Amino acid sequence: MALSSKERLVFRVVFVAAVLCSFITPSMAELPRFKHAPKKPQQSLHILVVGDWGRQGTNNQSFVADQMGIVGEKLDIDFVISTGDNFYEDGLKGVDDPAFYSSFVDIYTAHSLQKTWYSVLGNHDYRGDVEAQLSPALKQKDSRWLCLRSFILDGEIVEFFFVDTTPFVDEYFVDPGEHTYDWEGVLPRMSYLSQLLVDVDSALAKSKAKWKMVVGHHTINSAGHHGNTEELKQILVPILEAYNVDAYINGHDHCLEHIIDKNSGIHFLTSGGGSKAWSGDVKPWSSEELQLYYDGQGFMSMQITESNADIIFYDVYGKPLHSWSISKDRKESAWI
Ligand SMILES: *[C@@H]1O[C@H](CO)[C@@H](O)[C@H](O)[C@H]1NC(C)=O
Repeated sequence: MALSSKERLVFRVVFVAAVLCSFITPSMAELPRFKHAPKKPQQSLHILVVGDWGRQGTNNQSFVADQMGIVGEKLDIDFVISTGDNFYEDGLKGVDDPAFYSSFVDIYTAHSLQKTWYSVLGNHDYRGDVEAQLSPALKQKDSRWLCLRSFILDGEIVEFFFVDTTPFVDEYFVDPGEHTYDWEGVLPRMSYLSQLLVDVDSALAKSKAKWKMVVGHHTINSAGHHGNTEELKQILVPILEAYNVDAYINGHDHCLEHIIDKNSGIHFLTSGGGSKAWSGDVKPWSSEELQLYYDGQGFMSMQITESNADIIFYDVYGKPLHSWSISKDRKESAWI
């Protein structure tokens, strides 16, 4: 089921055709949409981003959670984004899996974190019961939980496009090793992916938000253990570039990382330090592009206004490691 380079080309053509057809086919599926308006009167959104976390508090997950609570209080956050791999090793076994409590409810207990957690699935989540993790039954247990395969979060000044990236990766289909993935709802893979790309493309095309940010589990550009995800570079990146997406936010590599693509100017932000980290696991990368690579645990904050998106990465002690301000007005980025 791997996509050969020829198939990828065919895929692009089919995809472009599907996009063109979408102008004349009114019955298009649309991605589910949620609204989370900025607090008045300051008109800014304050967010924490964490990924790759659910390990029953072990591997420093609880320490990261405590620091998220403190920073979350200081920033008076509006919500949390989870970049996936929410429950290790193999997702949730069912809606009554106790891991939902021991890895989520009972870990992120700080008052400031009692906000909606907008979450996507990671590859480890696909090794469990996917429908269970997406089930509204979990919202009954903890009203913060909001996890869908792909959706849009409209924050007025910013729109977040959450994309289900696991089905893009050939390896999980071709060479799954001892792992079993729950592909119910994903097969046939080609139609799932082309529909998803059409939906993301049309949502981006329609977006009037000042900032456009895409969230997915997998890396696109990364100097970490997994490195780049070629399938996403080939099929998703052209769409991100076409609509001038400001940032792509992901997990998967268990590190904190900031890469600015020198051709497109897109910021690639990896926040995958929610628990286990891979110390010392880093590949060479151009220093012109790589602004931060931190191989320990931690998380990221974003403070977004009409004119600026301020990003800070924190370590397991809550110490800021790297700050960056992306400006809409000056069309350039600068240290803050
Ligand atoms: C927890 O974090 C500290 C500080 O980064 C690190 O030295 C330690 O190895 C971490 N523990 C685990 C189990 O990852």
